[in-house]
Formats: sequence, C-alpha cells, structure tokens
Amino acid sequence: MKISVIGAGNMGGAVARALAQSELARNNSIYIANRSRAKLDALKASFPQCHITTDNTEAARDADIVILAVKPWILDPVAREIAPCIKPGETMIISVVAAVPFSHYDELFCGCCPTFRVIPNTAAVVGEGISVIAANHASQAQTALVQSLFDSMGITLLTDEEHINAYMVLCSSGTALAMRYLRAAMEAGIAMGIPAAEASRMAAYTMRGAAQLIIEHGEHPEAEIDRVTTPGGLTIKGLIAMEEAGFSNAVIKGHLACLK
Ligand SMILES: NC(=O)c1ccc[n+]([C@@H]2O[C@H](COP(=O)([O-])OP(=O)(O)OC[C@H]3O[C@@H](n4cnc5c(N)ncnc54)[C@H](OP(=O)(O)O)[C@@H]3O)[C@@H](O)[C@H]2O)c1
Repeated sequence: MKISVIGAGNMGGAVARALAQSELARNNSIYIANRSRAKLDALKASFPQCHITTDNTEAARDADIVILAVKPWILDPVAREIAPCIKPGETMIISVVAAVPFSHYDELFCGCCPTFRVIPNTAAVVGEGISVIAANHASQAQTALVQSLFDSMGITLLTDEEHINAYMVLCSSGTALAMRYLRAAMEAGIAMGIPAAEASRMAAYTMRGAAQLIIEHGEHPEAEIDRVTTPGGLTIKGLIAMEEAGFSNAVIKGHLACLK
C-alpha cells in the first residue's frame, strides 16, 4: 500500500511519526508531503525509509490512503491539486481537518471515495492520544484499517458525524482546557513555596494519577473525591472554595464555548 500524509505540522507530523514507527511501515510505502522542506528533512533524518516531497501530487498519485493534515483554509486548494491523482472511489481519504463535513469531501473527491474524519489530539506525540473517527462510504474492513492506523497513537473511538464536534471539544480542545487547570495548580504550588519546575511536574503527575484512577476504576469522579475528602477536613474546604470561585461552571462554559 502507498500511504501518504499531506501536511507535516503538529498533527500531520505526529501522524507521520506514529505511522513510520508502526508495523505498517514495514510492508508499505509512507510518503510525507509538506509545503516547505525543514519539517520533511527532520522526519527523513528520523525515518529514512519514508519518502518526503514538497509536491503533493507525487504523494497522492495512486495512493491507497491519503491523510490530509493541513489547515482548514488550505484544504480546498490541496484537494483540487491532488484530486486528479487519486484512484476514484478507491483511495481512502482520511482528514484530520477540523469541522469540515463529509458533504464537502464528496464535492472535492468525486463523491465516492471512502472518507474518514479523524479528530486526533496532540497527546498523540507521546502515544497517549485519542483519535475520534467517523466514516463515510467505507466498508467495515476499511474502517478497521483506519482504526489500526490511529491505534498506534493512543486510543481510538468510532462515532458518527453528528457527534464528532462534541468529541473534538472534549478531547482536542480539551487538552488546552486541561492545561489551564494544570497551570493554575502549578501556580498554587509556587505560591506555597515549591520551585516552578517541581510544581509543574508534580501537578502533572497528580493530574495523570487522578485520570488513571477514573480510567482503571471506572467510577464517577465524585467517588474518588470521597476517598480523599475527610469529613470536616481541609480538602473539602478547598473544593468548596473552588466552587465559590466558579470552577465547575467555568469548565463547562469553556467546553460549550468551543462548540460554538
Ligand atoms: N493541533 C491540534 O490539536 C489539532 C487537533 C485536531 C485536528 N487538527 C487539525 O489538523 C490540521 C492541521 O493542524 P496543525 O495544528 O497540524 O497545523 P500546522 O502545524 O500549521 O501544520 C500544517 C502543515 O501544513 C503544511 N502546509 C501548508 N500549506 C500546504 C500545502 N499547500 N501543501 C502541503 N502542506 C501544506 C504546513 O507547511 P509549512 O511547514 O510550510 O508551514 C504545515 O506543516 C488542521 O486542519 C486542524 O484543524 C489539529
């Protein structure tokens, strides 16, 4: 198979790296295309078996899978450029471009290509990503293949187009929102006299540990809060102070604002 990634920025670069390190790279050709050379050269230095090019048509020509990872406003010109090079109805189009509906890909690519909208998040670069996937004109086998491509970057979740934007907010924008909690916790640590680097590391491990408890125990967050909160103790005072300052409301409003 020929698998091509177009756009080697944050997302495309993470996808290309994960692909290059996966089993798929062993028996398949990986092409990476980007407008400028620097990111391509860096990828080539790490993964010499990958083909790099600044010519999108070279990457797309007769590709079995094309992964589009450019900014939304670059999508149409890139699609117009590569559409004549793909195999109509056969080439699988995978797009990580946010908020572009399937109907638009049908207009760009003859209306019959198996098409996937994938919303990864930046934790993909450390193998802890979430890739939310919706499929159109695709068989079960094609969907399973796409899922296996993204499995190497963390976990995958299949959904329908109706829900993909909500997942994008929760998992993709959510990374930025979670960082704000982390930054605030770090600042609190510094205010209590802990050096900045140590406060950042410890707040991050605390957050990771808290998340892992939910993932492994599968309980409601409030059950884990109960385990830390002594009646009449200090932690409950902290939680009350946070809610007085509007914490839960701010988090919910932040998520919902990302959906608008
Ligand atoms: N970042 C996230 O968390 C995230 C999450 C989910 C989805 N997404 C989606 O992923 C897409 C890419 O975002 P990003 O954060 O990875 O952006 P980015 O870092 O700016 O990467 C975009 C890449 O596209 C390249 N490019 C621009 N024009 C091109 C062209 N005509 N042909 C080939 N390559 C071209 C750029 O090349 P240069 O090196 O020359 O600039 C750059 O490397 C967006 O549509 C976004 O909606 C991002």
